Amino acid sequence: MSDKLLVENRDGVLVLTLNRPEKKNAIDTAMWIGIRETFRAAAEDDSVRCLLLCGAGENFCSGVDLASFGDSPPGEEHPFESAARAVVEFDKPLVAAAQGAAVGGGATVLFHADIVYVGESLRLRLPFASLGLVPEWGSSYMLQANIGAQRAAELFYTAEWVDADKALTYGIAADVLADVDLFEHALAKAREIARWPVNSLREIKRSLRLHHLGAIDTAISFEQEAMMRQAGSPENIEAITAFMEKRPPDFSKL
Ligand code: COA
Repeated sequence: MSDKLLVENRDGVLVLTLNRPEKKNAIDTAMWIGIRETFRAAAEDDSVRCLLLCGAGENFCSGVDLASFGDSPPGEEHPFESAARAVVEFDKPLVAAAQGAAVGGGATVLFHADIVYVGESLRLRLPFASLGLVPEWGSSYMLQANIGAQRAAELFYTAEWVDADKALTYGIAADVLADVDLFEHALAKAREIARWPVNSLREIKRSLRLHHLGAIDTAISFEQEAMMRQAGSPENIEAITAFMEKRPPDFSKL
């Protein structure tokens, strides 16, 4: 496992830490593979009863590494797809602790967590329209399911920032903590969960997800097709070039 992902079993809670703070925990190709393998192994391992996902440093995660965005060979799936499915299919409680930036995939993964605790510094954004892209990770369905169609549409279309209080009001988060208390609070809650028998936790998770899984699957398939149309489009290239050049994108001439 690369040191960009830290994995530790703490009394039945598998703590998975995104550990690339200098890039706001942006997830590169190797990390996507590591996330996929960690979730798959955790699902099989009965000594893991709950998974806690968190980010090292001041931020949770800035999503897909934009510098390696087009890395996968033509025709081959980016490991993001299989990692996203491994998280969706994970059949044990998933708790997340998010502070600072939670952007793109760093936001949409939270919609699959059973319980999300956020730090006061949270700033969450769905930047897909601003990147010439489309929602991913089944978020086009999950966000509506979690917060309602009106609020979801507003966040997707405007790409506006969501702070911790709004995340709580909207039901994206279960609770807001001071950043300094966030990790210990989330770990304590995850440990409470991990006291119970793994098979009971599995069956509860399956029953909670039962009505969502088919819709998530449909959403992911549609999103993948739409992403194929948009990734590498002139507007997407302009957006990524602008990010790398640290300037606002200019879509006016496209
Ligand atoms: N991919 C690659 N690198 C990223 C990144 C990403 N998703 N997010 C941040 N970084 C890098 C920056 O390029 C910068 O690198 P540098 O120090 O070598 O120049 C470093 O992380 C710090 O980021 P910076 O933008 O300077 O920090 P900030 O506090 O001003 O802003 C964010 C933080 C997260 C708001 C901003 O970096 C951002 O919007 N990132 C892109 C997020 C995104 O669109 N992700 C979705 C992909 S689908």
